[in-house]
Amino acid sequence: MSKRYPPISGKYPHLLHGADYNPDQWKDTPGILNEDMRLMKLAHVNAMSVAVFAWAALEPEEGQFEFGWLDEAMDKMADNGVFAILSTPSASRPAWLSQKYPEVQQIRPDRVRALFGERQNHCYSSPIFREKISIINKKLAERYKDHPALIAWHVSNEYMGYCNCGICEEGFRNWLREKYENDLSLLNHAWWTSFWGHTYTAWEQIEAPAPHGSKTVHGHNLDWKRFCTQNILDFYKNEIAPLKEITPHIPVTTNFMGTYPDINYWKFEPYLDVVAWDNYPMWHTNKPDWEVASTIGFKHDINRSIKGGQPFMLMESTPSNTHGIAKLKRPGMHLLSSIQAVGHGSDTVQYFQWRKNRGGFEKFHGAVVGHSGHENTRVFNDVAELGKTLEKLDAVVGTTVRPDVAIIYDWENRWALDDIMAIGGHGRDYENTCQMHYRKFWEKGVPVDVIDMTVNFSNYKLLIAPMLYMLRPGVAKSLESFVENGGILVTTYWSGMVDENDLCFLGGFPGPLRKLIGAWIEETDTIYDYDENYAVACEKNELGLSGEYKINGVCEIIHPETAVVLATYKDDFYSGRAALTLNNFGKGKNYHIGFKNNYDFLVDFYDKLIEELNPLKAIEADLPEGVTAQLRTDGERDFIFLLNFATDERCIYIDDNQKYVDLLTGKSVYGGIQLPGYGFKIFERLYS
Ligand code: GLA
Ligand code: ZN
Repeated sequence: MSKRYPPISGKYPHLLHGADYNPDQWKDTPGILNEDMRLMKLAHVNAMSVAVFAWAALEPEEGQFEFGWLDEAMDKMADNGVFAILSTPSASRPAWLSQKYPEVQQIRPDRVRALFGERQNHCYSSPIFREKISIINKKLAERYKDHPALIAWHVSNEYMGYCNCGICEEGFRNWLREKYENDLSLLNHAWWTSFWGHTYTAWEQIEAPAPHGSKTVHGHNLDWKRFCTQNILDFYKNEIAPLKEITPHIPVTTNFMGTYPDINYWKFEPYLDVVAWDNYPMWHTNKPDWEVASTIGFKHDINRSIKGGQPFMLMESTPSNTHGIAKLKRPGMHLLSSIQAVGHGSDTVQYFQWRKNRGGFEKFHGAVVGHSGHENTRVFNDVAELGKTLEKLDAVVGTTVRPDVAIIYDWENRWALDDIMAIGGHGRDYENTCQMHYRKFWEKGVPVDVIDMTVNFSNYKLLIAPMLYMLRPGVAKSLESFVENGGILVTTYWSGMVDENDLCFLGGFPGPLRKLIGAWIEETDTIYDYDENYAVACEKNELGLSGEYKINGVCEIIHPETAVVLATYKDDFYSGRAALTLNNFGKGKNYHIGFKNNYDFLVDFYDKLIEELNPLKAIEADLPEGVTAQLRTDGERDFIFLLNFATDERCIYIDDNQKYVDLLTGKSVYGGIQLPGYGFKIFERLYS
């Protein structure tokens, strides 16, 4: 049976393509709206994020609203078949608001109040700010609720930052009171405040962490970050309340920032109709582009996984350059990187921004329409070509993928790891480590979900949990039942060390994972970059690994209990002892990698596991270096995205037993497929 998610909007059941559109910056330029409409048609765009930073234009003085310019833009868009993902304007405040109510300005961690300026730097708790944004959001919803152009709400922009004002700090204390059942001794225990005698004797003594105050109490840091996620979520819920009330049929979203560390995006899941994110990779550096592309695949997959496979929105990307060095996207990369998003489950390709602003901080940032103002540019042509391509992909809308493989990338675990004082600087390498574990699957065209540790694992065959240092309540049990029921789990060094409050598990690491891993980890050695050691595969080991692998920083000293040893250390006082183990547990297995490795180990290790498990693949083909294949399906129709991130041509031989048709040309495909440098193909697999 065909299973598809509904399109983002029933009003326009196609892939969306467009950009941030700020007519508020061009109100004084006669004729520009008509010119924009002419150009939008030529660019093959169909949906714009409108008025993202337009509060000052919508409400120039307190309580005085000016919607005329927006009415005109919305009407013109509707007349020209362009839809609006209409923004709420909280990301940047009007000057009058900051002047009259200075308390809306964020207080920074150093306890200095920000002055007016910049953006996304307001207090998330301020009642007056919440009230003011609620008023303008209500006005927008009332005014445009039946507007033919409106298809979605773009709530605020890239929520970020923390505020340390009195209201936020009081909110934090109240959050703590609730969490610790009004019992300060529970908090003192959870934060282990007896270390350095930081014991609190009254709730009022507790402040948020600060660069010049408390910053080393790990439980304190964790709870602050949890509170801030909760507070930003509450702010978002306050923003969407009028939208949900007045326009219940219009989906709401807010744009995330990939692996932005300060907000646990998973907490937003129940309150988003669709997930959206902004993607700004640095292409064409001294790293091969495919390495960058696999890290971007990882982030797309997070966004697809947050709502359990529901297609997401690529809300921002650049058609040419971003900030900094501002290297231009080389020919081909714009189409390829946009199609990459679609291949991983995005139903949109959106940019920052439509028209380059004339002045201001981002005036040289890539945009569809440059300062020349016309359509005869390389970038504009790229965008138009992509638009035409997306128009041929209706069949892909609402499809997804159900991978057999998942990797845990967990925000709270990252917070805890980032705080580690000992064990070298390696503690801060969590994201990169997870992305290294992901890469082999990307290279083989094996789809992967990237999930939080609290997700239900039962639909996966293989679960990879790099550096699962913190175990939140219930996680050890759900990992056990996953493996008991036949799942394969991969764990690594620094697993099962602390509970949700960053208190170490007593009685031996890896704490509650000890039975599952079948070993006791007695010590962890962090070695210098110039130290050399190797993990040497044991003769006739169960995985069939051979040779030796250079270690890159960490060696655990492992006492196997029920586990068998697959590789041992070559040197040092633990030479000959376990470095890689396998524990049979119920119907499944746990592989434990005790050493921090380079990529060559993961290549061989996951090759073996992929061979053994035969997980869902996009296509039966050996993919050459630089090429990935991604899959989207509705259960009846399979779409395969073949993407070449190498600068030169690659040839792929596909399995002759299946029939494929090129979705863009309608032609049958067989045998050797030629992909030029930065080229791509989209096939449908035909079942006879
Ligand atoms: C972010 C913002 C945009 C713009 C771009 C520039 O994603 O949301 O407003 O500043 O960065 O890259
Ligand atoms: Zn505040």
